[in-house]
Amino acid sequence: MSRIAYVNGQYLPHQHASVHVEDRGYQFADGVYEVCEVLGGRLIDEKRHLKRLSRSLTELRISHPMSDKALGVVLREVVVRNKVRDGLVYLQVTRGVAPRNHFFPPDHTAPGIVVTARNASVAKSSAMAEKGVAVISMPDNRWDRVDIKSVSLLPNVLAKQMAREQGAFEAWFVDDEGYVTEGSSTNAWIVTKDGTLITRPADNGILKGITRAIVLELVEREGMKFEERSFTIEEAQQAREAFITAATTLVMPVVVVDDVTVANGAPGHIATTLRSLFHTQAEIADS
Ligand code: PDD
Repeated sequence: MSRIAYVNGQYLPHQHASVHVEDRGYQFADGVYEVCEVLGGRLIDEKRHLKRLSRSLTELRISHPMSDKALGVVLREVVVRNKVRDGLVYLQVTRGVAPRNHFFPPDHTAPGIVVTARNASVAKSSAMAEKGVAVISMPDNRWDRVDIKSVSLLPNVLAKQMAREQGAFEAWFVDDEGYVTEGSSTNAWIVTKDGTLITRPADNGILKGITRAIVLELVEREGMKFEERSFTIEEAQQAREAFITAATTLVMPVVVVDDVTVANGAPGHIATTLRSLFHTQAEIADS
């Protein structure tokens, strides 16, 4: 089956799905994106993802390509056309096509929009969660607006690749004061010895993850202790548990931090519980 992408108003087979060479996303990484989980053919937390997309667009003064309602139609259509049951839908909006020039293009320039979707193995992700993953750390060398979900992800790409080359799944960025900000494509969490969940406040130092927000709601709902504060790599290494969250990984236990085994090296009870309860708190859209 040929995969289908939505590109600027058309549904096209991938081999014909292309954007102009002077799309500003291509030339300047001048665009934003969202990744939304699909479960049983339904979008998870669609409203929050579209709200964050809108915020990212507004922060960068890129015009909205269409209403949330119309975006919802396109997202569903791409999911259906690609026969996605469990997987992801990717949405990207750029400042559009214009002769290369750092200045913003004229106001009438239409934003560029691309939507793709693909299946992802739930079994593979569950198997990974049963073992837990390793993370490495590295200095956070990104700009100070990582709260915007920009497609400008070069430091994140380099960090993720370095993690893989060192046998890890994720890289945690560490700020100038020695505190973990977040992962290259995930938010970072620990559970202290007394059972308190810790995650960094959603300031400009991290992306305000949708999965993070749902997990925080879940933690409150279940009456678990939590604190939004920064933590260090040493604290994570001595924690009772550690985990990461994102639409792509959901709640994924971390069992090794910079070659140090966390607790007994097995996924923790809290992370495992939050993973299993996640979809009882997330918003599951109509198909
Ligand atoms: N990444 N932090 C960063 C830097 C991210 O790129 C992401 C998501 C998150 C988690 O956000 P959410 O819970 O809303 O998925 C945190 C997506 C999945 C990606 O780039 O593929």
